Amino acid sequence: MRYHVMTFGCQMNEHDSERLAGMLEDLGYQPVDDPAQADVVVLNTCTVRETAETRVYGRLGELKRLKSERPGMIIGVCGCMPQREGAAGEVRRRAPHVDLVFGTHNLDAFPALLREVVEERRPVVAVSDEEGDIVEGLPRRPGDDLKAWVTITHGCDNFCSYCIVPYVRGRERSRRPEAIVGEVERLVAAGCREVTLLGQNVNSYGQDLVEARGGAGFARLLRMIDGVDGLWRVRYMTSHPRDFGPEVIQAVADCGKVCEHVHLPVQSGSDAILDLMNRGYTTARYREVVAAIRQAVPGVALTTDIIVGFPGETEDDFRQTLDLVREVRFDAAFTFVYSPRSGTPAAGFPDQVPQEVKKERIARLIELQNGITREENQKDVGREVEVLVEGASPKNPGKAEGRTRTNKLVLFPGGQENRGELVTVSVQRAGTWVLHGEVVR
Ligand code: SAH
Ligand code: SF4
Ligand code: F3S
Repeated sequence: MRYHVMTFGCQMNEHDSERLAGMLEDLGYQPVDDPAQADVVVLNTCTVRETAETRVYGRLGELKRLKSERPGMIIGVCGCMPQREGAAGEVRRRAPHVDLVFGTHNLDAFPALLREVVEERRPVVAVSDEEGDIVEGLPRRPGDDLKAWVTITHGCDNFCSYCIVPYVRGRERSRRPEAIVGEVERLVAAGCREVTLLGQNVNSYGQDLVEARGGAGFARLLRMIDGVDGLWRVRYMTSHPRDFGPEVIQAVADCGKVCEHVHLPVQSGSDAILDLMNRGYTTARYREVVAAIRQAVPGVALTTDIIVGFPGETEDDFRQTLDLVREVRFDAAFTFVYSPRSGTPAAGFPDQVPQEVKKERIARLIELQNGITREENQKDVGREVEVLVEGASPKNPGKAEGRTRTNKLVLFPGGQENRGELVTVSVQRAGTWVLHGEVVR
């Protein structure tokens, strides 16, 4: 029996896909790259923007054809989309060939739900509104042994006015520090060298745990993980500008394994828009946090997320975003066109921005940021950077690739045999997306 899992969302979603794969392998299923060969196909979905759902329905359309040729194929839809109000029913109506629909809060029930579909030969829908307790010890597919994601908090309590994540992922719940450190130790024992700590707002880690009260929860956790022997690198995302306090900045500066990269979504450069977004900070506070991080962590790379065309965003608001981007000079930015999500406050706000205006603004923003990214990357030319080698570059024969501590992709002569090495590369050339160089040590 063979399976294929498709992932549509963020790192959390990808991490959940590893768990789905782990559960399927425990049941005796083997992975297969081509969904046409699979007995079970699972679509692990995202609903953060309308386009994410459109892609899911596109794939479901293709799978309908495959399933008509192989009627025994089981199709499952899970993740954040079924968790959205009304979406599970919508999936069943628009894609009746789907056999199993379950939500993020039912992930650990997947093996039992699959058995129900197989044994009773009828569609099963399981979407609960309750988050339930954090389930520890779910199997994971031993995929990438070198790098691993480690969840530190589930859910989100921030309710940014545009965002559906708090509705589909539930309230913020922190895993216990000893469970997290224990997982990191087990990963390292299995060969892992880099972990990325995951949470929608890592800076509020531990606020719901009694022993971490006092606000130093995430800082303390970073110090604990930095102490794990055999681990080389620690990354974390996402950071929230409102909660990125001095203790965390000090921990990032002190901990040798914690990488010099902060992903700090700003979302907008206009205070009026940030207020409507319910982000809880001003551009002045954002600039202060950036200055404090740069002061404490020399050579740090900063990346961000920006939404254009939020309801009420005027040309002047948008220019303030461009000004902030020019001033802060992010190493990279993920840019999004605002997508109204039903059930979120912003979807009902007046002055929705027309699609043409959003398109035009995002094009201007991307052009500006790409130029800055290239210029910032060029500053690395002539420098020596530490690279954790991931193996042969899939698109560049004769080259190996890996990432710097600042999370930049580096290509250099080498191949798969270099996987897992920590090398020093002298950077000779830099483009917008990649640095090129040669190994010096
Ligand atoms: N918790 C993280 C990331 C959440 S989703 C954070 O707070 O930054 C990733 C990004 O998607 C967000 O940072 C935001 O830029 C974008 N996003 C979320 N909802 C969106 C929407 N309705 N339309 C467009 N972009 C959105
Ligand atoms: Fe969404 Fe805001 Fe939570 Fe991020 S912090 S997941 S943008 S509500
Ligand atoms: Fe991630 Fe999308 Fe869910 S961004 S948390 S998979 S809605």
